[in-house]
Amino acid sequence: MRITVLTGAGISAESGLATFRASDGLWENHRIEDVATPEAFARDPALVHQFYNMRRANAAAAQPNAAHHALARLARHHDLVLVTQNVDDLHERAGSPEVIHMHGALDRARCAACGHGWPAPAVMLPDDPCPACAAPATRPDIVWFGEIPRHMERIWQALEESDLFAAIGTSGNVYPAAGFAQHAGRHGVECVELNLENSVNALDFDRRILGPASRTVPAWVEELVGG
Ligand code: APR
Repeated sequence: MRITVLTGAGISAESGLATFRASDGLWENHRIEDVATPEAFARDPALVHQFYNMRRANAAAAQPNAAHHALARLARHHDLVLVTQNVDDLHERAGSPEVIHMHGALDRARCAACGHGWPAPAVMLPDDPCPACAAPATRPDIVWFGEIPRHMERIWQALEESDLFAAIGTSGNVYPAAGFAQHAGRHGVECVELNLENSVNALDFDRRILGPASRTVPAWVEELVGG
């Protein structure tokens, strides 16, 4: 079976990584416009690097949970395309063979001058020279608000060609990911949502499985591969 899965911050919540829109959200000390936009980086690169250095350290200290491991198991039994809005590497560390990071990744760095990319060091500073062009223009390889998400052509095609689409741990607040279920549904693809509560686009799904991902995702995968 061809399955496309989209994950959001909710799948990493039980690994201790804060979600964005919970009351104790990630942004509690910072407004999004101060740390996650190109304008913020131009205005105060040191603050933006400090924010992502903290997120990089938190992600390195976190462990994949049962939901991440269940999706790695799913990939061993079905033709799975795994897309994530998350920038942590918990899917990779749980053994998922291929992860499409549409919002970038904490463990990657990029040069704002020449576009060169490389594995991010634990701590990045505004004056770090680019390894390729030496410009002091290094940035986290993260897609900020107002920037274009990555790999979209491949994602739209996967959604259209799937037998099943599942959204896991995402609130449905941010496009284009919030439109994936509607796009898949228009192509006759069955859509299921696994979330702690109904997302804002819950009505786009044929089925909703409510509860913590570490419990609902392994049970859902068992339905698909068990027996
Ligand atoms: N199990 C399942 N779902 C959970 C859990 C859990 N343990 N804990 C929280 N959730 C759900 C919440 O109910 C919420 O619907 O996960 C969702 C998290 O939503 P957001 O915090 O909005 O995160 P996300 O949807 O990934 O945000 C999308 O917005 O902030 C930008 O670029 C950022 O990638 C992010 C994008």
